[in-house]
Parts: sequence; C-alpha cells; structure tokens
Amino acid sequence: MRHLDEIAAPGTPERALLERIDPHRLPRHVAIIMDGNGRWAKARHLPRVEGHRAGIRAVRETVETVAELEVSVLTLYAFSTENWKRPRYEVLTLMGLLKEYLRSELETFRSNNLRFRPIGRIEELDASVRRELDHAVEATSASTGSLVQIALNYSGRQELTDVLRSAVAAGADGQLQPDTIDEAWVDAHLGTAGLPDPDLLVRTSGEQRISNFLLWQLAYAEIYFTPVLWPDFAKRDLLEAIVDFQHRERRFGGLPETEKGLFTPPGGLSAGS
Ligand code: FPP
Repeated sequence: MRHLDEIAAPGTPERALLERIDPHRLPRHVAIIMDGNGRWAKARHLPRVEGHRAGIRAVRETVETVAELEVSVLTLYAFSTENWKRPRYEVLTLMGLLKEYLRSELETFRSNNLRFRPIGRIEELDASVRRELDHAVEATSASTGSLVQIALNYSGRQELTDVLRSAVAAGADGQLQPDTIDEAWVDAHLGTAGLPDPDLLVRTSGEQRISNFLLWQLAYAEIYFTPVLWPDFAKRDLLEAIVDFQHRERRFGGLPETEKGLFTPPGGLSAGS
C-alpha cells in the first residue's frame, strides 16, 4: 500500500476509512460486478448508454484506487455473454466506450505500473475491439504492479464448459488420464490461471446475485453488496468494502482460530480419531 498521503488527504472521509484498513490484510484479488448504469441514467431521464458513459469515471477511480492500495488483481465484469441480448445500439456503445477507455487510460496504466488483460471469449469480439485490447496488453506487458482484468464476452459457465472441452480433447488424444484432473488442473485451464482467487466480490446497485461471474473462482470469496449505482461508485465505496471485508472471519470450511481443538464429537474422542 502506498503512503496514506498519496491515497487520501488528511481530514477527508476517505482518509478516515483508510486509517481503519490494515495494510497487511488487504484482499489480494478484488472482483466487481458493475451494475446499475441503466437505473442511474433512467433516474436522470437520460438514455441508458449515458449511464455506461458515466460508469467510465467509476472504472477510472476504482483502477487508480487499486493501484494506490497495491491490490494484486482487479477483475471488472464489463460485458457478459448474455449482454448480446441488449439493443444493438447499446452493445455498440459499450464496445465503443471500451475502446475509448483503453486508448485514453493507457498512460494512467503505464504511470501506475498496471498490467492489463481481458478475459472471456475475446476471439468472438469485433476485430477493432480486439486490436485495441491487444495493443493495451502489449503496451502494459512490462508492468510489474497490479493486474487489471476486464471480463468481456465472459460467463463462468462458458469458461467451465471450455475447460471440459479441453479435457475431453486431451483425453481423446491420449494425453490426459482421468486421475490427472484435480482442482489444480482445472485452475490451470481457466482464463484466470495462475492468479489468486478473488477474496472480495463487490456488486453495486443493490442486486444480490453472482450472475454467472467467476463461478469456480468465487468459491470462498467474501461478497459485499452495496446499493450505490455503478456510476456513483467512488474511492470511499471501495474503501468501505475493504473495511467490511477485514471484519469478516474467513474459515474456508474450517473453524475460527479460537475454536480449533475445542471440539469434541458426539460420543467423545475415540482412539485414533
Ligand atoms: C450494468 O449496468 C453494466 C454493464 C452491463 C456494463 C458495464 C460497463 C461500463 C461501466 C462501461 C465500460 C466498461 C469499461 C471497463 C471501460 P446495467 O446496464 O445492467 O444497469 P441496470 O441494471 O440499472 O439496467
């Protein structure tokens, strides 16, 4: 985590939140479902696409905050495989905004030592979008700081389906035996291979769903729902989510430290148990 003065000025609400954060217990990976752009626009009698446009500010501020906190990975859900069902104009606007964002933010990525990469079925996107994505990946490939992933044409079920396909194909070629497949093998064949699983999932706009996002990787994530609509999401909201995360007791299916060794199964402990 950078020096506090670099993240928030003394006396501000952001600084007060920051002072409640333990820099040694930050989430390593934060994933965000950016929701509520349409409702934000509707409340202002604006077309839906204006909500997406306003959402870019929130993306920018979130990316900068992640860089300041030195969180290792940020994954933003920008476009799901189901989003193709939206009106053509909205889909085209979203793709246009993405291209604009990548072009305008490249310098911020570089100056903050951020690495960029997309996840999802990128090969199905328009060539002009792929060109921009490739350029951003290439231009930030030497960065050693946080990784910013944007999920595009992504769905967790499709990602798992792709893993199954590659397993069956490798099996048919005689290169893979059923026993070789374990959780590490599946992990290594996901779009997020080699990264820590998200510790914290944030969803904005009050909706309380996972919506086909990172289904495998979110197994033990702490989930934080906020009523804030994505275009209004600001640094303080991310800091609040992290403060809340640090109050959670993560057990990963085990017991809290204080209770370990105190449990006696019904009937008492028998020899060898
Ligand atoms: C959900 O709001 C949001 C999206 C489907 C797209 C998110 C995209 C952006 C924030 C802009 C472009 C992204 C990047 C990374 C540059 P919604 O439209 O479903 O809102 P609603 O539920 O209120 O209708």
